[in-house]
Amino acid sequence: MNKVLIINGPNLNLLGRREPGIYGSQTMETCLEQLRQLYEIEYFQSNHEGAIIDKLHEVGFDRTYAGIVLNAGAYTHTSIAIADAISAIELPVVEVHISNVHSREPFRRDSKISPVCRGVIAGFGLDSYRLGVEALIHS
Ligand code: DQA
Repeated sequence: MNKVLIINGPNLNLLGRREPGIYGSQTMETCLEQLRQLYEIEYFQSNHEGAIIDKLHEVGFDRTYAGIVLNAGAYTHTSIAIADAISAIELPVVEVHISNVHSREPFRRDSKISPVCRGVIAGFGLDSYRLGVEALIHS
């Protein structure tokens, strides 16, 4: 069971171009290429809260996955609906962030989803995704 779904939330489609001083200049495509040499990875990105919830519902009971790596972007700090969706499903969800959210603006320290996630990884650039995948596969 080495299959993992990575979900990226709003604005993460712009990785590589978006605020490179914070998020780096690597694209998600390059990150996925590297990860797919090691693991079976499905990928979904949406800028829409409801679409992220629909995806969690769709995959969240499928035991062919080891779990879900979720970077909910700014919805991390606001979305009770995404937190409820994570509680509703069976698969474990690892919360990841590219930046160290604790060293930035105070509002980024508050996560609505951390209490219902298996664990949290933040601050390792795009390597946070690999760490999230490996946390699911090896734990
Ligand atoms: C982020 C951190 C969030 O605070 C921000 O809104 C993002 C990206 C990260 O990966 O560091 O969109 O989740």
